[in-house]
Amino acid sequence: MQYFTEMRLLGSQSVEKRRLLIGGVSCDELADRFGTPLYLFDASDAREKIERFVSAADATGEAVSIAFASKANGALSVLKLMLDAGLDVDVASEGELEGAVRAGFPPERIQMHGSNKSDAEIETAVRMGIKTIVLDNVRDIQKTSEVCESLGRSQNVMIRLAPGIHPETHEAISTGQDDTKFGFNISDGAARDAVERISRCGLLHFAGIHMHIGSQLMEGSGIEAGAHRMAQFAIEIRPMVGTLEEINCGGGLGIRYLPSDALEPIQSFVSRIVGACTKPFRDLGMPPPRVGFEMGRYFVGEAGSTLYRIGRIKTVPIGNGKTRTYASVDGGLADNPRPQLYGAVYYALNASRPDEPHDAPFRIAGRHCETDRLIPEVHLPAATREGDLLLVQCTGAYNFSMASNYNRYPRPAMVIVADGEPFLAVERETVADLFSHERIRSTIGTIRQ
Ligand SMILES: Cc1ncc(COP(=O)(O)O)c(C=O)c1O
Repeated sequence: MQYFTEMRLLGSQSVEKRRLLIGGVSCDELADRFGTPLYLFDASDAREKIERFVSAADATGEAVSIAFASKANGALSVLKLMLDAGLDVDVASEGELEGAVRAGFPPERIQMHGSNKSDAEIETAVRMGIKTIVLDNVRDIQKTSEVCESLGRSQNVMIRLAPGIHPETHEAISTGQDDTKFGFNISDGAARDAVERISRCGLLHFAGIHMHIGSQLMEGSGIEAGAHRMAQFAIEIRPMVGTLEEINCGGGLGIRYLPSDALEPIQSFVSRIVGACTKPFRDLGMPPPRVGFEMGRYFVGEAGSTLYRIGRIKTVPIGNGKTRTYASVDGGLADNPRPQLYGAVYYALNASRPDEPHDAPFRIAGRHCETDRLIPEVHLPAATREGDLLLVQCTGAYNFSMASNYNRYPRPAMVIVADGEPFLAVERETVADLFSHERIRSTIGTIRQ
């Protein structure tokens, strides 16, 4: 286990007069005003990440389209920030589609995914005339074509490819290998067959090919290899479909959950992937397709943090005369399932004592059943006590969107800090909300005596 005794601040986090601030607003004030646990979102950090990505794309000199993967954080205000930043959006369900529309995205900036789309999802997308539906399987092709015929509308489609790349990341977020539920394999001819099928469907306009090989990738070699395969495939199918409009490389760029995490510089990440997509075309003297990206975690992960109130603290023996100190917080598995799902690691600060040395080891426990080990080991000030605030960094991606009501806890509020002002973007659920969809009768079935 790694220990980090140097306090790390991210984005607009700062320490002033013994207080931890985010975007100029103190964590004490945020906790007092909005309660804990509280999702915080630093708008300036997300904007900076987007700007960096966009300028890296511009620097390639090639046509690049960039979308936000809304599954990473689908809060309407976060989507609005993405809309205003000029990004497109990708959605993977009817609910995410509705979120994009409510945030103000016009249909021509929405792309839809899903490995098991419902008929209703396909029909809604076609009726709305969204930018692209990414077809994942033969049934998607048939159903989308049928819907287009019955509505008399045409639809831009791409196919999702499984390029046969196994990225270096957790198994649960590896999606580019041959053995996957996602997309058409290139290796067994399924992808080529899909292209043939689509070219026979008069109302489906074949706009491109897509892949998403995995998530939390700290460097781009896996995506680059996949991009290369996609470009070869695009050249191979040219006689059937002409030059494609787009090769989309999905998302996947990681974030620095721990101070020791090193991320490939964004410029090199973007340029080598764009190069892998475009160079094979340029080498043959052909104009290359546009290159698409749809980043989730990279745009929002580091911008988010979660503020908890520390509750019970206890020290237990763990053998060989050693002890471990547990600090329990007023959240955990329900607002951040990632540690329990696949061993995700986080870094945290004592937001009530940011100026004290963080040099005493603690295990941060959530309040839920299961072990609910939120952070196996982190260094906090030795004086950490009940009532202090704990700021867990890098929770902006896949926390709000994966949250549950486990143990009947209401989901936290989300506050966006922008221009020095906190804005309550998502209200805290209430205990009453938890029961709003339930029914109970005087007897449930026959009681046998
Ligand atoms: C199709 C697709 N695109 C983009 C993403 C976003 O990935 P990330 O958050 O790693 O950038 C995902 C994540 O699962 C995805 O499935």
